[in-house]
Amino acid sequence: MPQCCASIKLMAQSRMAESTHFLATEAETAALAGKLAARARPGDVLLLSGPLGAGKSAFARAFIQARSGNPTLEVPSPTFTLVQSYELPDIIIWHYDLWRLTGPDALHELAWDEAQAGIMLVEWPERLGNMCPAQALAVTISPNPAGREIRLIGEQRWFLDAS
Ligand SMILES: Nc1ncnc2c1ncn2[C@@H]1O[C@H](COP(=O)(O)OP(=O)(O)O)[C@@H](O)[C@H]1O
Ligand SMILES: [Mg+2]
Repeated sequence: MPQCCASIKLMAQSRMAESTHFLATEAETAALAGKLAARARPGDVLLLSGPLGAGKSAFARAFIQARSGNPTLEVPSPTFTLVQSYELPDIIIWHYDLWRLTGPDALHELAWDEAQAGIMLVEWPERLGNMCPAQALAVTISPNPAGREIRLIGEQRWFLDAS
């Protein structure tokens, strides 16, 4: 678990919940991402952790497609741009890939402050250092030979009807 996620757990332990999901296929990952997309509100942050190829971008893509209502919306990995935004009728979704971030100070050039009003999906949240948000849903993806295990830790409202 990234250090920032550990501190989230400490800061809000009493209101936290967690669940673990085994997802055999990318379609199952997409279904979980879609459920969470429907529950996300302005100001929400999802921290997507896991090794290269775990499925962080696949999760983010499915989340954005579901929230936009457009299953064919193009959602490229922001590996080189570091951030990609999606202006939906009701909200802007900001998709960050911070692998190449030089330091937390560089976040200000990536619309980090403006993004707080929208929904933020953050790959490689370890890079945030002390800029890690106090409240977030931690999504930790672990690959294994039979699929992916996804562990969610966050406020209880994320888990209503979760399966
Ligand atoms: N259950 C699964 N959930 C998510 N991705 C999966 C799953 N099974 C296989 N994959 C594949 O794993 C790869 C994940 O790549 P990507 O999302 O770019 O990873 P990351 O962003 O974590 O580096 C994709 O090729 C995807 O099709
Ligand atoms: Mg990625």
